[in-house]
Amino acid sequence: MKPRILFTDQAGVLGGGELSLLDIASHFADTSRVVLFADGLFRERLEQRGVPVSICAAPAEVSGVSRAGGLTKDIKAAVGVIGLAREVARAARDYDVIYANSQKAFIVSAVAGKFACKPVIWHLRDLLDQQGEFSRLHRLVAIRLANHLCARVIANSRATADAFVACGGRPDRVRVVHNGIDPAPFQRLTAEEIGALRQQLGVAGVPTVGVFSRLAPWKGQHVLLEALSQLSGVHALLVGDALFGEQGYAEGLRELAAQLGITERVHFLGFRQDIPQLMSVVDVVAHTSVTPEPFGRVLVEGMLARRPVVAARAGGVLEIVEDGVTGVLVAPGDARALAAVLRDLIANPDKARALAEAGYAAAIRQFSIEALLRGVTEQVSEVVVRTQRG
Ligand code: UDP
Ligand code: GLC
Repeated sequence: MKPRILFTDQAGVLGGGELSLLDIASHFADTSRVVLFADGLFRERLEQRGVPVSICAAPAEVSGVSRAGGLTKDIKAAVGVIGLAREVARAARDYDVIYANSQKAFIVSAVAGKFACKPVIWHLRDLLDQQGEFSRLHRLVAIRLANHLCARVIANSRATADAFVACGGRPDRVRVVHNGIDPAPFQRLTAEEIGALRQQLGVAGVPTVGVFSRLAPWKGQHVLLEALSQLSGVHALLVGDALFGEQGYAEGLRELAAQLGITERVHFLGFRQDIPQLMSVVDVVAHTSVTPEPFGRVLVEGMLARRPVVAARAGGVLEIVEDGVTGVLVAPGDARALAAVLRDLIANPDKARALAEAGYAAAIRQFSIEALLRGVTEQVSEVVVRTQRG
């Protein structure tokens, strides 16, 4: 029998964690529900897939808490968390397990699980040991709750699992389940469709590289702009928007392009929902994160689009790309090295094609939706069976 899962997520927007949950929740749609702490496109996409969704809007003192923390804010937030946890606990009555898909959602869900006497699973998608990303207090709270009030931590990569343990998380609680991506939207594209999109974007016959991440300082789009300024005639698609309040960085990127004198070669496309098409338009898919990437769905997607990927050598990336075989790795933040790799791949289409083909085969083999769902189902079933046995 399929488990009844109450999924929780703090975001209304579509980040990688939410896109992953979209696939997971769709699979359990007939028995499960998603509770979001903010409304937005994510709700629409879940509903389109037939997933029941409720919104429990987080009070401002909870949604306003940044990862960097701050004691006064945290105390106010704690009160808000309890209120939100009561709502989630009420919603959890008809479900076997609460499954938190983001950090804030986990904090709330851990408390809700206690109120409702339901087991809690945390799908951990962040590297908790990253300096600057998490305040010490937030990290401590998350780890304490995970060690005491969480039945299982599902990490999106070995790197994420190791960081959890390095921060004091119990090794016996954590299992790795990699993201999986549906290859179908990448496989059904036609050459005509791709050609038309190239025309429309003004990059027909022009060497083009793309980054497909939300605009945020740690995603490092500035590194691509610096690399581009060292290459002549190469265009870049910057696909993505500032999803979590990084508007200043997004504006700074436009200024940087102007300063570097490359404005006419940089195409800011904003948030898009036609990623398979756009990846198929570019010659190279670049990943430029300047701090370690927990997983990096964009890499698997680039591989499924049969494009050579060049990625920042850190974090979960090392579990996806084999340097020189299924893609190319460069040191994070090294614009010169990135420029050299882009130059080489554009000048050597046979090499680029070989990397892309090997990448495609690896993505199909290692990062399927089936494997993701199998991994999640196994973890959820274990937790539910154990709870029922008491
Ligand atoms: N993405 C998207 N539209 C955009 C830019 C990105 O749908 O305009 C998707 C992208 O295809 C990928 C996800 O957002 O599936 C980003 O996930 P990733 O794991 O690479 O990074 P995250 O944003 O979760 O840190
Ligand atoms: C997070 C991480 C990203 C990962 C995604 C899906 O948003 O930043 O690296 O791929 O979750 O698990």
